[in-house]
Amino acid sequence: MKQIAVLTSGGDAPGMNAAIRAVVRSATAEGLLVYGVHNGYAGLIANEMSYLTRRDVGGIIQRGGTFLGSARSQEFYTVEGRERAIDNLRQRGVDALVVIGGNGSQTGSLALTNMGFPVVGIASTIDNDLLGTDVTIGVDSAINVAVEAIDRLKVTAESHRRGFVVETMGRDSGYVALMAGIAGGAEVVCIPEFEITPAEVAKELRLAFERGKRRALVVVAEGARYSAQGILAYCEEHRQEVGFSLRLTILGHVQRGRTPTATDRLLGTRLGKGAVDALLEGRTGVLVGLIEDSIAYTDLHEIGGRKKSVDVALLPLARAMAQ
Ligand code: F6P
Repeated sequence: MKQIAVLTSGGDAPGMNAAIRAVVRSATAEGLLVYGVHNGYAGLIANEMSYLTRRDVGGIIQRGGTFLGSARSQEFYTVEGRERAIDNLRQRGVDALVVIGGNGSQTGSLALTNMGFPVVGIASTIDNDLLGTDVTIGVDSAINVAVEAIDRLKVTAESHRRGFVVETMGRDSGYVALMAGIAGGAEVVCIPEFEITPAEVAKELRLAFERGKRRALVVVAEGARYSAQGILAYCEEHRQEVGFSLRLTILGHVQRGRTPTATDRLLGTRLGKGAVDALLEGRTGVLVGLIEDSIAYTDLHEIGGRKKSVDVALLPLARAMAQ
């Protein structure tokens, strides 16, 4: 193996830069040349790549986002698009590709693997919904943004004896919402993995009001069965019963733009090094993740198209702590 390429794909996640840096520095230390592919799979199809040296990845570990750029490419879903991507890599003499990204991106890694091109994936998404790892790059930073927002909302909520409905990202996963809800001391957490109706939310708020609370927080994952907006509308309709008057805050992409936490920088660094180690051992077609604090390699066939779900056993903890 002489040359490899690295790309970031899908939604950016804080800590991706740490992973790119680790790939480049670990690989160059072993005498490999590294191409950085710009703008994810779209850039791979468009043949947008350039060599990265150790110095090119200096000063990026503390930066959010991905300095290589990312994209969601429709063309990559087609066989023609993927063939073009592989042709571009082969024409440049690239022996293997490292894909830093989440579920959709690793499904792309599997597709390339099935077409005979060696790929190693690195688990990176703020949703933390990938199998083959306990945690993904970016989720810790995203949770911290949500908790910081909840802390601030509690301040103003308390002044006015209000409630806030806060919507977090996470696509179909409730991980960010549940963890942020517990760490932020929310009264109610609504996640896709466990249905809770607006009427039940309203009842919990009423009980909190009766317990004398001066504020209440409802954290709703964007993929939950009942949307944050729907819950707000229901509670406003039943304002007298609920007690608190409510406001809505949708956190959205704010959760993706944070400076990476130390945890995400460490994770990105460990997984980036883990990916290069796998390539040097000739181990491809795998996702690099962290299981029980050790680097783990999982066959991409076991990951592609499947999702890890959140541990709903933590919901009662959230509830108990809200009393
Ligand atoms: O997968 C990461 C994520 O941030 C999800 O939480 C969210 O649903 C989605 O990406 C948003 O995608 P986009 O940035 O394309 O709007």
